[in-house]
Amino acid sequence: MEDRITLACKQFAKVLESQLRRVEAMKAQDGFIDYGKLSPIVIGICGGDGIGPVITGQAHRMLEFLLADEVKAGKIQFQVIDGLTIENRIAVGKAIPDDVLAELKSCHVILKGPTTTPQKGDGRPNIESANVAMRKELDLFANIRPVKVPSKGINWTIFRENTEGGYAVGSEGINVTDDLAVDFTVTTRQGTERIARLAYEFARKNGFTRVSLVTKANVIKTTDGNFLEICHEVAKDYPEITTDEWYADIMTAKLIDEKRRRDFQVLLLPNLYGDIISDEAAEFQGGVGTAGAANTGKRYAMFEAIHGSAPRMVAEGRGAYADPCSMLRAAAMLLSHIGYQEKSDKLTRALDICSFEEKRLTITGRDTGATCEEFANYVMETVKSLE
Ligand code: IPM
Ligand code: MG
Repeated sequence: MEDRITLACKQFAKVLESQLRRVEAMKAQDGFIDYGKLSPIVIGICGGDGIGPVITGQAHRMLEFLLADEVKAGKIQFQVIDGLTIENRIAVGKAIPDDVLAELKSCHVILKGPTTTPQKGDGRPNIESANVAMRKELDLFANIRPVKVPSKGINWTIFRENTEGGYAVGSEGINVTDDLAVDFTVTTRQGTERIARLAYEFARKNGFTRVSLVTKANVIKTTDGNFLEICHEVAKDYPEITTDEWYADIMTAKLIDEKRRRDFQVLLLPNLYGDIISDEAAEFQGGVGTAGAANTGKRYAMFEAIHGSAPRMVAEGRGAYADPCSMLRAAAMLLSHIGYQEKSDKLTRALDICSFEEKRLTITGRDTGATCEEFANYVMETVKSLE
C-alpha cells in the first residue's frame, strides 16, 4: 500500500513540476504578436479527420477567394498541412507527430478541421486529443466561441480558458491502486489573469456591459475559487462593466430561460465548463455544426469548428452533407484576428443571410438537404453579391 502511495506521490510531483515550469514560462512571455508587422502572414490549413477535410476544404476555398489580392501581393501565404490524421498520430503514438508540430509552428495562424480523439477502451491507443495538445503546445489560452440568434435576442461570446482546469493534465491522472483513481484540475494566477483580461477587454471594445463568471466554486473550492477571485481582481480595472457569478449547473438552466438568457453577453469560464456550455449555447443557433471558435494565444492562433470529426456521418456515407458553416465562421474569425475586419464582416454577413434570413438552402446532414459544397457555393455567391 505504502509503495503505491509513494509511486503516486512521485507522479504527482512530476505534474506539479511541469505546471510550475508552465507558470514560469507564462511569467516570461512577451506581448501579443502584431500581425500588421508581418509579411507574409502564413495561414496553415489542416484538414483533420472524418468530415474535417470536407468542411475545411470549403473554408480554405473561401479564404483563398477573399484574400486573393493579398496572396498576389505576397502579404498572405497559405500552407497546407496534411499529416494531422488519426492514422499518423496512432502510427507514431503521439497526439501531434513531430514533423506536423514543426509545420504548425512555422505558421502564424491555423485553420484546423476537427480531429478524432481515441477514447479509453475503444481499442485504439489512448493518445491525447490533437486539439488539446495543440492548444497546449501553441499556448492557445483563449477559446472564444460566439453564439448569435438575432431573432431570439441571443448574442453571447464565450471566453473559455483553454490550457488549464481539467485539461491541463487530463492525460496524467493516476491509478493509485486498481480501486482508486485520481485526476487533477489546475488553476494558475497567470493563466486566469490573461483569459480574464482578454474577456474584459473584448467586452469594453465591443460595448458589452456585463461579464458573467461561471464556475462550481461552491464545490470545487480551491481551483474554481481562485479562478473567481482572480477574475474579480481583473474586473476592478473595468468599473463600467457589471460582473456577476453563476454556478455552471444553474447557468445551463438559465440559457434555456427565454426571459433571462437575453441578458447574458460575455461568459468567462474555466476550461471544462466552457466546453460543456459552449455546446449547449451553440444548439440554440442551429447546432454545433454552425459554430466556429478562435483559439488564441500571444504568438499563435488556431481557428476551428466547435464540434468533432463526426466519424458516424462518414461511415454512413453522409460526409458530403456536412455543414460547412462552423468552419466558415472559424474562417471569418481568422480574418478578423489577422486584421482583415471588412472581409470578416462580409463573410459573417453572408453566413447570417444564408443561415438566418434568406435560407434558400438548408443543411440536414443527409441527402434531404444541401451538400457541403452546395451550401458553401451559396455562401460564396452571397459574399460576391455584397461586393
Ligand atoms: C471542443 C472539443 C474538444 C474539447 C475535444 C474534441 C477534446 O469538445 O473543442 O470543445 O473537449 O475541448
Ligand atoms: Mg467541446
